Amino acid sequence: MKLLVTGGAGFIGSAVIRQAVRAGLDVVNLDALTYAACEANVAEVADAPNYAFVHADITDRPALDRAFAEHAPDAVMHLAAESHVDRSIDGPGAFVATNVTGTYNLLEAARAHWVQAGRPDTFRFHHISTDEVFGSLGSEGQFTETTPYDPRSPYSATKAASDHLVRAWHETYGLPVLLTNCSNNYGPFHFPEKLVPVVILNAMHGRPIPVYGQGLNVRDWLYVEDHADALLTVLRRGKVGRSYAIGGENEARNIDLVRTICGILDDLRPEAAPHDRLIEFVTDRPGHDARYAIDPSRIRDELGWRPSVTLEEGLERTVRWYLDREDWWRPLLDRSGVGERLGKTA
Ligand SMILES: NC(=O)c1ccc[n+]([C@@H]2O[C@H](COP(=O)([O-])OP(=O)(O)OC[C@H]3O[C@@H](n4cnc5c(N)ncnc54)[C@H](O)[C@@H]3O)[C@@H](O)[C@H]2O)c1
Repeated sequence: MKLLVTGGAGFIGSAVIRQAVRAGLDVVNLDALTYAACEANVAEVADAPNYAFVHADITDRPALDRAFAEHAPDAVMHLAAESHVDRSIDGPGAFVATNVTGTYNLLEAARAHWVQAGRPDTFRFHHISTDEVFGSLGSEGQFTETTPYDPRSPYSATKAASDHLVRAWHETYGLPVLLTNCSNNYGPFHFPEKLVPVVILNAMHGRPIPVYGQGLNVRDWLYVEDHADALLTVLRRGKVGRSYAIGGENEARNIDLVRTICGILDDLRPEAAPHDRLIEFVTDRPGHDARYAIDPSRIRDELGWRPSVTLEEGLERTVRWYLDREDWWRPLLDRSGVGERLGKTA
């Protein structure tokens, strides 16, 4: 199978690519290399004969047509996106361009390619989305595939729009699509503007660890390698036109997640005083969703997928990785906006 992966130089896309190349699939990584990309994420497979890279922007339709014509993929896994909620508050335009218009372009390029190939029913357009499209939960309940959409940030609104486009291209044109909505990921190669790497790197350097509001927001955390495994499982065996909610059944309040990471660092790199002394509560994100939680029954019961690590195991692996891989994260700290407080005011 030849797979076209968009956004494969990012956090999750690169995990998908590393697994897919190792599994022997032919993989084409199409990425615009924005501030969030890092070619080192795919260094492990860069020289593999079954890997190719295309530098292109999904808002550039002719570039997409050329990529489809040259590589003739059997499936698309669409992960390219603007992905940081705080940046979406400061500059929503880039999110509309990539997440909405870019997804529209990719759907049209994929459809043209699929029609030209004689509409094979084995073709797949797998759209990778987030649980944030479902909005914010109270203290009870979980999101499922039938939860009504209720996005509340510019990021989640543009992801919701892209989900609707993908469904419409299935219903209207018959494009064989798959959708997945996943909870928060963490793990190696996580760009150092997101919560988990910020906590690890600030704690390692004795800098204040910013926690939004009172740290009471709850997220359902999934190790990135488990997400990549789930995505490849859905690609291979998911039912066309169906969506799958993916989660780790690992709910944690942000403050508890931060304290767990501090505890791991206390063990691996002890200091005179515990790392949680560095926690500093800061102004909350406007419209900060209170709680996300996923009921993953469908992917578990239909496809037999389960996460392989607990939150504690995954966090320990992640902290060890950041301790070992200064060569990876150090240069990224100089990128625009990294280390700054973004998205503070609406
Ligand atoms: N990170 C999470 O916790 C999470 C959870 C659920 C779903 N998702 C979704 O998974 C996908 C990947 O997320 P991530 O965390 O790996 O994101 P990321 O920000 O780490 O990577 C995004 C990648 O997309 C590329 N890209 C951005 N705009 C592009 C464009 N216009 N054309 C081509 N490439 C472009 C970037 O260069 C980068 O390599 C996104 O669609 C996101 O919405 C993320």
